Amino acid sequence: MNEFYEKVKDCYNDYFDRTEEVFIFAPGRVNLIGEHIDYNGGKVLPCSLSVGTYGAASKRKDGRILLVSADFSGSYIETEADVIEELKDEPESFEAFGWAAYPLGVFKKLLMRGFKLGGFEMAVSGSLPRGSGLSSSASLEILTCAVLKKLFRLELDGVTASVLSVEAERDCAGVNCGIMDQFICAMGKKDKAILLDTSTLEYEYTPFILKDYTLLIMNTKKPRRLADSKYNERRAECEKAVSVIGKKLVPERKNLCDITPEEFDRVKELLKEPVIKRARHAVYENGRTLDAVRALQNGDIALFGKLIDASHDSLRDDYEVTGIELDTIVEAARAQKGVLGARMTGAGFGGCAIALVEKESAEEAKKNIERIYKEKIGYDCEIMKAETFDSPFAV
Ligand code: GLA
Repeated sequence: MNEFYEKVKDCYNDYFDRTEEVFIFAPGRVNLIGEHIDYNGGKVLPCSLSVGTYGAASKRKDGRILLVSADFSGSYIETEADVIEELKDEPESFEAFGWAAYPLGVFKKLLMRGFKLGGFEMAVSGSLPRGSGLSSSASLEILTCAVLKKLFRLELDGVTASVLSVEAERDCAGVNCGIMDQFICAMGKKDKAILLDTSTLEYEYTPFILKDYTLLIMNTKKPRRLADSKYNERRAECEKAVSVIGKKLVPERKNLCDITPEEFDRVKELLKEPVIKRARHAVYENGRTLDAVRALQNGDIALFGKLIDASHDSLRDDYEVTGIELDTIVEAARAQKGVLGARMTGAGFGGCAIALVEKESAEEAKKNIERIYKEKIGYDCEIMKAETFDSPFAV
């Protein structure tokens, strides 16, 4: 058992003066490829990680909900199941709860679907680097679903848990994200990536075993907040693009990712910049994801690396969601011996990038990237080796 396990158990015992009924871990995620297309009906390829969120919890008979975070110097929230039932599912109603808007939003969405819940108490702690873009909010939402499922014996499957967690994030926390993060946090498995079709929620597991290679996760430590970022602006640009060119194609296309590169080239002149660039990213990124899955299945790690590089370049030049920190860390990684590819991962504007590197060169590459980043950006980055892990709904 690791330090986080101890930390959350101790926090629970200190606050509630008893031993918890359930203890659960929900992973964070890294997306290998297929970026910014989960809200365009595209195909994405994320993995669940061994870093994530831990929770210790028990039911309460008095209908109260008590939540404590071991991370924000014991930040403590107290409310009641009946109060949450009465609240409107809009961000203004949940704002005052701070970080607890995520678990309480999930609670609300479960109630709205007719699940029978009552009071409970929960202590949480995360091992994800804060603000790193490795999906700490989705991890907390899925943790809450898994905890409530166990405490109240709910008939809740992972796909439903991810769908209602996205609704909670959108309606209660005010972030209009796609479904990738919640889905992988709920359904991911050790040594596997999930190829998820975000237009149908069909999915398949694909082996993610790199043998002689390692995946580095490189945290730029540039703080980013999805709600503050240009995330919603990009979504709106994509909606604009599909509303114009989708109609011109036969049959009509509802999602940008249903448009092939050839079709796109035929109709793109109907759009203006920067919308053409944004749409080009989505249309081509979808194809790259499918190529990447094939490359992994064929053991062609070199091709997988090239696709990762191409994805970053498109996110930098066309989608414009990288920035100096992510570009610097990616360039530094690409310059190292044994590195086959590097790209930003997640929403961008800061957060993390990944690099695919030969195992025997990984330590040297890590040291060099840290040095170059500090020289250019002025503060330290943080680099770790990615380890995949089972999600609570997948086992
Ligand atoms: C964030 C969102 C996801 C996805 C990525 C970009 O992580 O939560 O839904 O859109 O950005 O691929």
